[in-house]
Amino acid sequence: MSYLLHIDSSSLGEASYSRQVAQSFRGQWQGPVVHRDLAASPVPHLSAAGITARITDPAQHTPEQAKAAALQDELIEEFLGAEAYVFTVPMYNLAMPSVFKAWLDQIIVGGRTLNHAGASPVAGRPALVISARGGGYGPGTPKEGLDYLVPTLEAVLGRDDLLGLDVTTVIPELTMAPHAPALAPLLPLHEASMTAAHDKARTFATNLGATRAA
Ligand SMILES: Cc1cc2nc3c(=O)[nH]c(=O)nc-3n(C[C@H](O)[C@H](O)[C@H](O)COP(=O)(O)O)c2cc1C
Repeated sequence: MSYLLHIDSSSLGEASYSRQVAQSFRGQWQGPVVHRDLAASPVPHLSAAGITARITDPAQHTPEQAKAAALQDELIEEFLGAEAYVFTVPMYNLAMPSVFKAWLDQIIVGGRTLNHAGASPVAGRPALVISARGGGYGPGTPKEGLDYLVPTLEAVLGRDDLLGLDVTTVIPELTMAPHAPALAPLLPLHEASMTAAHDKARTFATNLGATRAA
């Protein structure tokens, strides 16, 4: 049996709303888990050695390229070995946390994980993206159109010609409302968003369990 790959990237540990929603998923998930906490243990940014190692015969690798390639291999094997994915990716400055972007840059490699010409072994596997944010970016809000995180992730993770995962997104929003008096009128909207996010994460896990058991 394979495993769930659960990747966290919020710096806030247990106080993270994204991580809390992921725990609702985990409460329903029956099966092995590999957990990677990118905030606690960040992976390095992709270096020149890491990029050039991809287009250099391994027998010709410099020590720096060999080290960078070994890290990519470890992360890619972990990624390819999973049957399903949970990614917690909160909004930092309209985009994803840099630790998550660094991980993505390490694991997206042509011929290994990219689904060019249907080549990716992960294509079609289920993935849950949980992305908390302090504000609200939904239709009709003043910040509509400024969410550069979810559209980017849905493209990179989900497009058929990129990783090709089957992506479901959960957005706990207005998480600043309990902490900023000026946002108090938005508290009911925040609370409804949290309830919906936890429900969606549990339902996703339950449906996944039913599919796996079938
Ligand atoms: C560095 C940083 C940048 C942030 N930038 C934004 C932002 O651009 N828009 C927003 O709505 N909230 C922003 N926030 C608030 C977070 O999105 C919010 O606290 C969210 O709950 C974080 O997710 P987490 O609870 O899973 O850690 C930012 C928070 C931090 C720490």
